[in-house]
Amino acid sequence: MTVKLPDGPITHPWVQTFQWLTNPLEYMEACTKRYGDIFTLRIGPVFTPQVFISNPQAIQQIFSSDPKVLDSGSAAGIKSPLVGQQSMLALEGKPHQRQRKLLTPPFHGERMQAYAQEINEITVAVTEKWLFDKAFSVLPSMQEISLQVILKAVFGLNAGQRYDKLKTLLLEILNPKQPLVFILMFVFPALQRDFGAWSPWGHFLRLKQQIDEVIYTEIQERREKVDASCSDILSLMMAARDEFGQPMTDVELRDELMTLLVAGHETTATVLAWSLYWIHSLPEVRSKLLQELDSLGENPEPNAILRLPYLNAVCSETLRLYPVAMLALNRLVKSPIEIMGYQLEPGTLIIPCIYLTHHREDLYPNSKEFQPERFLERQFSTSEFLPFGGGNRRCIGLAFAMFEMKLVLAKIVSNFQMAVIDGEPVQPVRKGALLGPSKGVPMVVTGRRTQNQRMFETNVSSA
Ligand code: HEM
Repeated sequence: MTVKLPDGPITHPWVQTFQWLTNPLEYMEACTKRYGDIFTLRIGPVFTPQVFISNPQAIQQIFSSDPKVLDSGSAAGIKSPLVGQQSMLALEGKPHQRQRKLLTPPFHGERMQAYAQEINEITVAVTEKWLFDKAFSVLPSMQEISLQVILKAVFGLNAGQRYDKLKTLLLEILNPKQPLVFILMFVFPALQRDFGAWSPWGHFLRLKQQIDEVIYTEIQERREKVDASCSDILSLMMAARDEFGQPMTDVELRDELMTLLVAGHETTATVLAWSLYWIHSLPEVRSKLLQELDSLGENPEPNAILRLPYLNAVCSETLRLYPVAMLALNRLVKSPIEIMGYQLEPGTLIIPCIYLTHHREDLYPNSKEFQPERFLERQFSTSEFLPFGGGNRRCIGLAFAMFEMKLVLAKIVSNFQMAVIDGEPVQPVRKGALLGPSKGVPMVVTGRRTQNQRMFETNVSSA
């Protein structure tokens, strides 16, 4: 057993931070080629060593460790001024478990069904605005869909002034014009200076304050007129009680709402944009998918869509190839733990590396190719395929995100003929903390699919 940290680049931490921020995929790939499944980088505000791990057995060990040994939260560097200190992301230990318990039921099982109609209606409303034969970027449309879905399903907001105001403010704060400036401000808190409304941080603070006002007004009104028939997640959170019979406070409600927005909006939108890119870049993928979707007939049941094996494989392969979260959340070592022969001491940060695990040639041969069949041919364990992380931090919105992805894709692919604009291929690029498609996936809608086309295309592809 070794007491030293795993090897890693010996370049100055500033150089490592620069490479990590500007070219994360190439940098991680170069490191794993040189140092293997476990290596140490010194990046971030205080250059704390961070141990990157892409070995499935080690990841399994991390995901099954007790939170007293390894945990995430603000002590592990997960801090965001947008989500607040009562956010599940910032909490650890017992308070974290309590919040997760309160929030898990609204995201599971039959609850999902209640959101199906809304997801379908929103998808139709957004895609109705698409102009035929005119190049456009798909990502903003997917952002519009995922934001509207969250505002309806999570906040329970209906169209109106408050809905429009919140939508505008959120789109502005969640999709900053200069994402690199924002990630630098979040990584280096010293840059968080308010020099008035025109300075980046000043602008951020003012937007945040306006958003908070809208959210607190909504919470206040809901408390005054309780409607037991509401199935949105805010209503369910307000009705939830912990083991001591205590409800969530206003600050907890606000912080969790922002967490769900931040964690669920851009992630889902990005994966949808990537899926549309792959489906329309590879004709055989589109044709197989259409065959499967058309076999369900007009207006299929949401559950039938959810169970489609090829659609599931397309979504999984999209999440594998360029996982929108390149890394799971940092885990802080709280009491000594041995991983892959290294004795890691309290204070060390460990990072399960989703991207590198998804590109292991022993698990995913020709890993840079989009091959949905992988997911039909074999099952992967939760430490081999981990787009939603795992263990006590596994994404709480997993079922919701998969449900939304499948319904939105089924609607769009069944209803429209689309094509990716030729030219430079779309590349994965850093978008803040996430990995997204360059140029937001430029595409064109060439027509609407009619009933006849459905039958014709299905016959041709099955011939
Ligand atoms: C395709 C879309 C999504 C992807 C790829 C994704 C991915 C992830 C990942 C990788 C984590 C960290 C897990 C870990 O470190 O083990 C996470 C955490 C989380 N996600 Fe998601 N997510 C998605 C959508 C959503 C949605 C729709 C919501 C809610 C509306 C959501 C809410 C959360 C929350 C609250 C956490 C923190 C959990 C905790 O700290 O206990 N996510 N997500």
